[in-house]
Amino acid sequence: MANKNLSVWTSIPFWRRSAAWVTGFASILLIWLTFDTLGQITMGTDDDLKNGVTKRVPAATVINYKIGYEMSTKRGHEVPTIGEKEPFFGKEWSADDAADLLHLGKLTSQTKNCMNCHTLLGNGAYYAPDLTKAWIDPAWSKTGPMMAMTGKSTKEEAIAEFLQHPSTYPTHARMMPELGITADEAKGLVAFLKHMSSIDTNGFPRNFGKEEGSTNAH
Ligand code: HEC
Repeated sequence: MANKNLSVWTSIPFWRRSAAWVTGFASILLIWLTFDTLGQITMGTDDDLKNGVTKRVPAATVINYKIGYEMSTKRGHEVPTIGEKEPFFGKEWSADDAADLLHLGKLTSQTKNCMNCHTLLGNGAYYAPDLTKAWIDPAWSKTGPMMAMTGKSTKEEAIAEFLQHPSTYPTHARMMPELGITADEAKGLVAFLKHMSSIDTNGFPRNFGKEEGSTNAH
């Protein structure tokens, strides 16, 4: 009877229609974002690396290149840079061998549960340091304390040595336990860490320490 005086805000058909429009719009937006994300996180190829095409997640063969971390004034944070070639465990890895090594590293990181103590790309536990950029951690540079302590002459050998015998090289108040990592698994893990450091994470983690000369990929 008194319907005439009701404002639009109390009209049930109005709210029903609004809900349908908002749900429809949000669904389309989510579908679009999903496809956009899939494109962004798809791993690049060896040819991308050879042709200097930048991908957020480079191919496994990125282990054959120097990784740097450089401030991008355009983006307002640091981004990984892929520099000139460098040997990794004394050689250049083919696309298949690099992919296999990276795969072994990923599997080992899961079976040994690194995330139980560390964070990887921000996921995991906060007991031990984030490993996203561990490869370019200044501690592992030629002049860094970790490198010197292991007595190895390359970064990859130094990290592999530490992973196999962490309790021999305690640096912090907390110690990383012996996880029974074999020499092959350690190699895989170092490839995994090196590859992860090359992923463009929009500047995560922030204010990360810098290796001397890393900006121009020495
Ligand atoms: C039980 C906890 C624990 C687990 C599991 C663990 N870590 Fe650690 N890790 C630590 C602690 C604590 C440190 C710091 C020790 C130090 O620096 O002396 C550390 C240090 C490190 C470092 C050196 C830090 C840096 O910034 O370079 C690396 C690399 C590393 N861990 C890799 C791994 C990997 C790879 C795995 C899985 C295979 C793993 N950790 C599993 C506790 C753990």
